[in-house]
Amino acid sequence: MTYENIKVDLKDNILYLTINREKALNAINGRMMTELHHFFFETAPNHVDAHGIIITGAGEKAFIAGADIKGLLELDVEKGMELSRFGQGVFYFIERYPKPVIAAINGFALGAGCELAMACHIRVAGEKARFGQPEVNLGIIPGYGGTQRLIQLIGKGKALELLMTGDMIGAEEANRLGLVNYVVPQGEEVAKAVEIIEKIASKAPLAIAKIIECVNTYYDKDNDGFEFEVTEFSKLVDTEDFREGAAAFVERRSPKFIGK
Ligand code: CAA
Repeated sequence: MTYENIKVDLKDNILYLTINREKALNAINGRMMTELHHFFFETAPNHVDAHGIIITGAGEKAFIAGADIKGLLELDVEKGMELSRFGQGVFYFIERYPKPVIAAINGFALGAGCELAMACHIRVAGEKARFGQPEVNLGIIPGYGGTQRLIQLIGKGKALELLMTGDMIGAEEANRLGLVNYVVPQGEEVAKAVEIIEKIASKAPLAIAKIIECVNTYYDKDNDGFEFEVTEFSKLVDTEDFREGAAAFVERRSPKFIGK
């Protein structure tokens, strides 16, 4: 698939995904969501040696200013359901991607942009980043999981306030609420994300994948996260990487993990 709305680069085993519709403040249209689907289901998994993915927005102004409002105007109930289910499916997959996915938020992260950032494992914000779920100003609600993930990250009371007022908050406030992990000087978001991915890449890949799965199981109403943790913990103690990690600890050296 040829990408028109996203840009993909691979450098030093990190996949860089740039949301690339700068003129529309990187708003997500239908074609872009299809490209995101393709990237996460086809392109990224094929890069078996990649340590993780960093998502950022083209230009200096926006990470993503939401779903493309002009496109939303064409929807009826059936098409609205299709759009919401498809987008939710893509974001669900991102949330469960077995390698770290980090949002490097360089500007406005509004509506679907805030929702995409929340589906990532870790969020790094530049100090000029602005966050919000302004859908209520348009007479709608978030459709890509925003009503659910905002509660998970910042709690019910503050989530309800942001969702009902449509207010925007700055990076420092987002950090204080737990919506982002770090605030860094503007322009240093990607560098901080690289630092985090490289640190995670020094750990055992199977353990990282299982941490992502176990943490997400907490929010899975059909599964018991504690039981899932027992199962996955027991599998990991029987891996070569665990034997290597434990041996390295005893021998006071750095471990060399192989993902087996
Ligand atoms: N959809 C389509 N186009 C958008 C857009 C969006 N979400 N956000 C910005 N743009 C476009 C503008 O139309 C404008 O295009 P033109 O130059 O062709 O007119 C261009 O980007 C620049 O935007 P502004 O002139 O508005 O820039 P600004 O600096 O004055 O304001 C802003 C910036 C506050 C982010 C403002 O653009 C804005 O409020 N955008 C909409 C934010 C929003 O409501 N997002 C939620 C969308 S709904 C959603 O996301 C639903 C869902 O969960 C599935």
